[in-house]
Amino acid sequence: MADQTPTQKIIEIDEQITVGTLAELLSLPVSKLVGELFKLGVMATINEKIDFDTAQIVVGELGLEVELARKEQTPLMRKKREASDADEPRPPVVAMMGHVDHGKTTLLDAIRGAETVKGESGGITQHLSAYQIKHNNRYITFLDTPGHEAFTALREHGAQLTDLALLVVAADDGVKPQTIEAIRFAKQAGVKIIVVASKMDRPDADINKLKQQLVEQKLTPEDYGGDTIVLPVAATKNQGVKELLDMILLVTDVEELKGVHSGPAEGLVVESHMEKGKGRVAVALVEKGALRAGDFVRVGSTYGKIRTLQNTSGEVLEKAGPSMPVVITGLRELPDFGDEFEVLPNEKEAKDKAATTATERRSGPATGATTSSELLRIISQKGQLSELNVIVKADVQGSLTSVVDSLKSLGTEEVAVRIVSSGVGVITESDVHNATTTGAIIYGFQVELPSAVKQLAARDKVAIRMFNVIYELIDDVKKELETLLTPEIIEEELGRLLVKAVFKTTQKEVIAGGEVTKGKLSLPAFARAYRDKELLTDNLEVTNLKSGPTDVKEVEKGNLCGISLKTAEKLNLKEGDRLELFSRRTETRKL
Ligand code: GTP
Ligand code: MG
Repeated sequence: MADQTPTQKIIEIDEQITVGTLAELLSLPVSKLVGELFKLGVMATINEKIDFDTAQIVVGELGLEVELARKEQTPLMRKKREASDADEPRPPVVAMMGHVDHGKTTLLDAIRGAETVKGESGGITQHLSAYQIKHNNRYITFLDTPGHEAFTALREHGAQLTDLALLVVAADDGVKPQTIEAIRFAKQAGVKIIVVASKMDRPDADINKLKQQLVEQKLTPEDYGGDTIVLPVAATKNQGVKELLDMILLVTDVEELKGVHSGPAEGLVVESHMEKGKGRVAVALVEKGALRAGDFVRVGSTYGKIRTLQNTSGEVLEKAGPSMPVVITGLRELPDFGDEFEVLPNEKEAKDKAATTATERRSGPATGATTSSELLRIISQKGQLSELNVIVKADVQGSLTSVVDSLKSLGTEEVAVRIVSSGVGVITESDVHNATTTGAIIYGFQVELPSAVKQLAARDKVAIRMFNVIYELIDDVKKELETLLTPEIIEEELGRLLVKAVFKTTQKEVIAGGEVTKGKLSLPAFARAYRDKELLTDNLEVTNLKSGPTDVKEVEKGNLCGISLKTAEKLNLKEGDRLELFSRRTETRKL
């Protein structure tokens, strides 16, 4: 290649880019780029896509004087909505976002007049739920997103599906890391934010402090000269809820949200799970068109004929239009969270389209092995990497994605989680067999463990751990990973000995005598030998200390003593040399 390195050039690329296009932009032969990717463990050919992070790493590895920057992103959903030739008004889609435990689900319950929160494990919303309510004879769709950091992926999707974000911030706790993250998602998705100052009934609620924190986040409240609406709410006392709903309609009315209400439906999967008696169940949000029972749909890489169509309260629907969350059954496979769906004229077309999507996905972008954290791990594999094999089963696709993503991100240069397999549904005998051959631990998240499987696992000594709260699961995996870390060796200096005489020197042992000039010698101990400033060896183990003819455990400063040393290499110790003694202990390290 010609040696004409340009001065630090900035190249803007999309979130994903084909290898061919990137090579062109970098003025590199494709083969060179493919080769470099290969070194990083990424098998990609000219037409395959890699993600931004991968591209950046590869550019770094190539040592190019080029900086990659992300092109300004237009969120997928926005783009699609604006492009559609909307005709009639549609209800707003509102996402509850915010820090864990700040009161999103409780507020939604107050809005719905229901009590979901009590039925949740650990009181944490584990997946995204959709509801539609009626206020002043108008519909509003709500998406409840979880607040725990493990659910970043879910929350991100929540923002993309949304017209308006309700940023729930507890007035007694203020802006927290996940509040900031939610703000970022909402802004990235171009979604308007209304701030709900929740838990206003709490004695230490301080809305003014909260407003100041919002100013710092560039969400300046109206009474501070900005345009952010901040509404005080006490959901448990049903205070401020009606005002909030009025405000939601007022704010979203300005946007004149419209949707196409007829024709073949399209939309997105918000949640999917297995249900007893029903089989595969998907919760989907209709974006355009009219969805009916009996329709043939392609959903992500699967398809089916809609067997039942219900709203999220379980009522049977004849049809569903834009912004309506629906519960559907009849799909061939469990779709993924975030999968798009479309109605097609017949089963064959639905099936073919599903197959095409499946192929595209296989050759397409960024599967597990090309995420940046994984790449970094591969790069660091030059060192020693210990892996913890795990098998993950979860109740719904959304949770599974969150668990798997969280576990993958636990890796360091030394240890990493390897997901041997993952899936939605109960733990099965084949999971146990798989664990036996791979030495994996099986993690179940909100799933069941049939007793036959439990017995098999006990017989084969396979560890199965069940969790209902995601961060407890992650903590457990973390502890397992910590056991794989090489323990840290901690040395503490004990004392020094000035050698006055050497009594015996063999290949493996030295016996000497001297005076303790510093500290206190004690057993067990290790030692380094110095001649002036020169280190003779750092590989000595003290096997014995003598005071006169008697074996002792300790010798204080100023006393004479004899010392026996085990040495790894021959050591010609002489009078005037110095021995520095230290103790060693190991400590398990934390991730
Ligand atoms: P995640 O789903 O885990 O992110 O939490 P969340 O934001 O949905 O919070 P949730 O609604 O589960 O509420 C957390 C706790 O705060 C619960 O114990 C609620 O009872 C309490 N809480 C919520 N809203 C209020 C309120 O208005 N007043 C008071 N006093 N407590 C509240
Ligand atoms: Mg919740």
